[in-house]
Amino acid sequence: MRIIGTGSALPKKVVTNEMIAQFLDTSDEWISTRTGIKSRHVITDEKLEDLGAEAVMKALEMSGLQASDIDLFIASNVVSEYGTPGISCVVAAKVGLNCPMFDINCACPGFVYALDMAEAYYKAGKVKNVLIACIEEPTRMVSWEDRSTCVLFGDGAGAVVLTEGDNIKGTKLHSEPDIDKIWMTRALTDSPYVTVKEPDVALQMKGREVFRFAVNACTNGVKDLLDEVGIKKEDVSWFMVHQANKRILDAIVDYMKVPQERCPMNIQDHGNSSSASCPILLDECNRKGMFKKGDIIVFSAFGAGLLSGAAVIEW
Ligand code: COA
Repeated sequence: MRIIGTGSALPKKVVTNEMIAQFLDTSDEWISTRTGIKSRHVITDEKLEDLGAEAVMKALEMSGLQASDIDLFIASNVVSEYGTPGISCVVAAKVGLNCPMFDINCACPGFVYALDMAEAYYKAGKVKNVLIACIEEPTRMVSWEDRSTCVLFGDGAGAVVLTEGDNIKGTKLHSEPDIDKIWMTRALTDSPYVTVKEPDVALQMKGREVFRFAVNACTNGVKDLLDEVGIKKEDVSWFMVHQANKRILDAIVDYMKVPQERCPMNIQDHGNSSSASCPILLDECNRKGMFKKGDIIVFSAFGAGLLSGAAVIEW
């Protein structure tokens, strides 16, 4: 497949580190030196599906396709207000899509997993045009009384439209199932047959262990994938790495021995927007005109699960 359109949408409200320090025992100094984050977009009264619809419409507009041209819609989302239907259906109803669609919940690497699936459907001869939208509101998963998690995240949506082509050169997905490192739970409705009350638990994370997983999974995943497809890292034009923490990105740049400028970052303005992070970064770089035909772009992302994945495409 080949990406022919990108789009993104962000909540209007920008929350700086200083604003958080007004109600939590934290500081701009701590947050920016540990994470690289200065501010993030935070959902207020907007609806997540409206952000999703905006990102989708922008990607469709750039692609030159209509909603009716799309054969498959894959939405990546960790949580939304809807238990059912999936956010794919909620967004589809807004933008007039009526193709087969489904949600995936692969946490932060969702975009890479969706690319892998889009390519598999295409190679099976089942689709010609695919829409992927990663639509996330992690600021509604954290406790805003927990300084160790709430400062890290931001909300947003990123979308891509793909059509026929052999520009996805390879994907590599990886898992190390472990639900103890990043997790949250939501209570379900009461039932007379369930006697143990399930608690609502906001996002919990073992930061240092996730940091280690992220660096290993990303560096090994990218190296293995490039070896598999026979592309040298020197020939990669851009490394689009999940924007979780600037120190993770620095560690990857260091380990991979690639120039910093080939690893674009927007974490300072967005924080970690889960699976939306890669497509938002892609759209921002694309709209700045950074990519030229033939550029090799590597995506790499990691997160809860623990899951990680990498994809390499030609622009
Ligand atoms: N402001 C001030 N102090 C804070 C703080 C905040 N926002 N958050 C945590 N602290 C404190 C801790 O309470 C701890 O204090 P103590 O030493 O008195 O107990 C101290 O800072 C160090 O905490 P620690 O968690 O060990 O810090 P760290 O250097 O590991 O940095 C992360 C924390 C979360 C920034 C870092 O581990 C990280 O980025 N991990 C990866 C997270 C990630 O990317 N998750 C998403 C993957 S998709």
